Amino acid sequence: MRVGVLTGGGDCPGLNAVIRAVVRKGEVTHGDEFVGFLDGWRGVIEGRTMTLDVERCRGILPRGGTILGTSRTNPYKVEGGVDRALHNLRSERVDALVAIGGEDTLGVASRLAGEGVAVVGVPKTIDNDLSATEVTFGFHTAVQIAVDAIDRLHTTAESHDRVIVCEVMGRHAGWIATYAGIAGGAAEILIPEEPFDIEQVCTSLKNRHAKGRFASIVVVAEGALPAEGTLTVASREVDQFGHPRLGGIANVLAEEIEQRTGFETRVTILGHVQRGGTPTAFDRVLATRFGVAAIDAVHAGAFGQMVALRADRIVLVPLGEAVAELKTVDEDLLHGVAEIFWG
Ligand code: F6P
Repeated sequence: MRVGVLTGGGDCPGLNAVIRAVVRKGEVTHGDEFVGFLDGWRGVIEGRTMTLDVERCRGILPRGGTILGTSRTNPYKVEGGVDRALHNLRSERVDALVAIGGEDTLGVASRLAGEGVAVVGVPKTIDNDLSATEVTFGFHTAVQIAVDAIDRLHTTAESHDRVIVCEVMGRHAGWIATYAGIAGGAAEILIPEEPFDIEQVCTSLKNRHAKGRFASIVVVAEGALPAEGTLTVASREVDQFGHPRLGGIANVLAEEIEQRTGFETRVTILGHVQRGGTPTAFDRVLATRFGVAAIDAVHAGAFGQMVALRADRIVLVPLGEAVAELKTVDEDLLHGVAEIFWG
């Protein structure tokens, strides 16, 4: 078969491990030929490709990013985008497509499956907010990077007796904040699922410092918002999928904390450092398992499906499920575990 591969949406450690696994299993076991589409759906619309084979994939397993490039292009938002994409898939003689991406990329894949494209999905996002799979590769790496940073913030915060607000990624769900906060010993964790009350945050910090303890690390997800009517946060520009560009809630928070508590407060926004660099061993293994299962799914004719992890087994689920429901942070994890260590 001639199989197209693309990576879409925000990049994520482990993408290259998926590409390598798809190509290795496809070429060696199934005798496939591959074509890589550049920059996600944009490359499919514009007909920009690169050759993909086992040789090209040598050495990419530990590399962050994606050798195919990525974008947040949505063919359904580009004039004539879908027709051009369908035309280019035909002219490239693509029998099947493996689309590696998050809810947006897989949402497009799902719609194209409805137009007759033979597509199999592989879920990715460092945010870990896809309900169809128990975990996505990239999440584990992002958490580890955040925890390494928080460990370092503790020692400088303690030396200066400061509060440090550490902002991590997490647009709609606070998985990175919750895991990194638990593993890093945060004094507060603020996530998009639960609008925060700044007064409560400050009271809790004051109580903590009154006990003679000092230095607090507040971990905040970039998508966290204050409870209605408590604080004003500026609105942001949106991308082709309607997502606002986030980042910066930590600055608002730090200013308020310093003003209301009198504690000297600093900010660290981890940003894209969480998405860069080499994947952890866990993410390399998960990405490899996903890649192998995806090309097997192509040969089983399981189109319109995506690979997912459930109870440590790789299973196939309809692509529609990837975008159906957001996986939010488990309340018991946040309040039954993380909260015990706050204040
Ligand atoms: O969707 C994954 C993600 O890393 C979010 O956590 C973050 O809000 C967004 O991507 C950032 O996207 P960009 O790299 O396009 O600014």
